[in-house]
Amino acid sequence: MTDKIQAIRGMNDFLPHDVDCWQHLEHTAARVFALYGYREIRVPVVEKTDLFARSIGLATDIVEKEMYSFQDRNGDSLSLRPEGTAGVVRAALEQGMLHNAVHRLWYTGPMFRHERPQKGRYRQFHQIGLEAFGMAEAELDAEIIVLTATLWKELGIQDVNLQLNSLGTPESRGQYRDALVAFYEQHRASLDEDSLRRLETNPMRILDSKDKTVSQLNKEAPSILDHLDKESAEHLDRVQELLQSLDVDYHLNAGLVRGLDYYTRTVFEWTTDQLGAQSAICGGGRYDGLVETLGGKPTPAVGFGIGMERLIELMRLQSCCGEPEQPDVYIVQTGMDAASAAMQLADQLRGKGFRTLCNVGSTGFKSQLKRADRSGAAMAVILGEDEVRNNTATIKELSTGEQLSVSEDNLLEELHRRLQDLE
Ligand code: HAM
Repeated sequence: MTDKIQAIRGMNDFLPHDVDCWQHLEHTAARVFALYGYREIRVPVVEKTDLFARSIGLATDIVEKEMYSFQDRNGDSLSLRPEGTAGVVRAALEQGMLHNAVHRLWYTGPMFRHERPQKGRYRQFHQIGLEAFGMAEAELDAEIIVLTATLWKELGIQDVNLQLNSLGTPESRGQYRDALVAFYEQHRASLDEDSLRRLETNPMRILDSKDKTVSQLNKEAPSILDHLDKESAEHLDRVQELLQSLDVDYHLNAGLVRGLDYYTRTVFEWTTDQLGAQSAICGGGRYDGLVETLGGKPTPAVGFGIGMERLIELMRLQSCCGEPEQPDVYIVQTGMDAASAAMQLADQLRGKGFRTLCNVGSTGFKSQLKRADRSGAAMAVILGEDEVRNNTATIKELSTGEQLSVSEDNLLEELHRRLQDLE
């Protein structure tokens, strides 16, 4: 027997039943984004590897070991996008959108990281996120955080916590890094192998270590909040002031360093206790230097990405997926004449906006009624040979079993009335 080809580890199929919840999230997010003036942008899934290396940073886990990179037939090194920000900045720059202009953009789609798959961590996962350009003020940081809080509210999600931090400017961060390296050098004996490696490449990531001894040591480590430059400290104060005035609770967490190098000043993450180890459902922050790093004029920017698989898991746990749309009408028909009459009727009904399923095939009357029940439709319309001969139809309300015969002329009106009564 031929072997069946299986999906790639960490890359999931989503069946129609799953997609109902995805669409509920997508529609709600698109509606909330529009309320805040964001417009959708669509960029490629594949970009030059160099774009990600320069944006996310060479010494990050993502670029060091998680990218799906390959040489295309021209010998160029390309990568499947591990995140959305770099591609959106590249597009905005390349399309000349960033000359003294303000833009609010959102996007969604698959991202790819070769991580060790586990619950909530996949190799193909999806983000819905946004990026705003041209506004350096703390008001914008607060606005996008409030936007995420509005989204949770609209979805009905509860028990999510906001972590907030500031990473300062590259200069203040450099000074902080020196202080951190000096501290860890004094405690080399407590560092695990991974942290020793990070001490050379990206010392701030040691603050993220899951190793018990290192986590303990991190409690004593210098805090970035004590090393912020004056403007960054004021910026963070203002973000906090705004969040307080807008009733958004947050936890100031000096250990929040994020896994991408482009951030400056505000960074934030929304986490939950309900998903196990992969607890972050949304992460983002300000990245005022990235446009310049990618060859543009200095342009302030801020954004976030929501992990859709994780948010959907949380929506399921909290019964926030909404109700999938069911058909209104299922047409049961027997006999040749009935089949063509049924197709005509189905199109008339669809023209009036009724979601209509028309039975296909010469299955018996009883099994058609069973299919009608299983379809989730509110009504069955039965067209048998008698009905076709007499220009009538039988309406069956599927929840009660109640039946009535109506003339063809009254059918649409009667269905409409009954469906409205059911709402
Ligand atoms: P990130 O924190 O790397 O940030 O990813 C954002 C979210 O994507 C995470 O909070 C998580 O929910 C989800 N996520 C990340 N990796 C995986 C994975 N392997 N499996 C499932 N979900 C995952 C960014 O990507 C930035 N581009 C966000 C941003 C936009 N910052 C500014 N603008």
